[in-house]
Amino acid sequence: MAIRRICKYGEKILEKKTRKVNQKELKKDLPDLLKDMFETLDAVGGVGLAANQIGLDLCLAVIKIKKEDEEALRIVLVNPELAEKSGSMTEEEGCLSFPGLFARVKRFSKVKVRALNEKGLPIEINAEGLFSKALQHELDHLEGVVFIDRLPFLTRMKLKPLLIKLKRQWRKMDESKMKEI
Ligand code: CO
Repeated sequence: MAIRRICKYGEKILEKKTRKVNQKELKKDLPDLLKDMFETLDAVGGVGLAANQIGLDLCLAVIKIKKEDEEALRIVLVNPELAEKSGSMTEEEGCLSFPGLFARVKRFSKVKVRALNEKGLPIEINAEGLFSKALQHELDHLEGVVFIDRLPFLTRMKLKPLLIKLKRQWRKMDESKMKEI
């Protein structure tokens, strides 16, 4: 198992729609890859991670949701699709590919997502609140969309100086060199 380096904003792979995962890949490489993705998520304390954030062109993401006093729920999304959506909410979001940047993003408040799980079996998830937000954020990643793309033009312009400053720091960041926990 290994912590993987997380791609930062500006790296091209984050802007590209990912390739669908096939059954063969699922059986062969997925178990080890998922271990690494969850380990990376644990190490950096994130909620979700998409495969293209660790440099892999695969339509695959993981989410770790923790409700108070309960053990964290670990969800694997292979080839996920947004099946239903309703309502709206605007809440603060961050992203492991934008360390230190936060912004309020408008999202659907409720979603239904269909995907395959780690065994290749179809799953359906109904979510609201934080979980709904996390699902939409990760599905966006897999389409090559990052959260700042969802911001109004003027907000994006206002964030630009901070983005330029942060980008300089991101060049020195490599999560794979973090100590395992
Ligand atoms: Co993200």
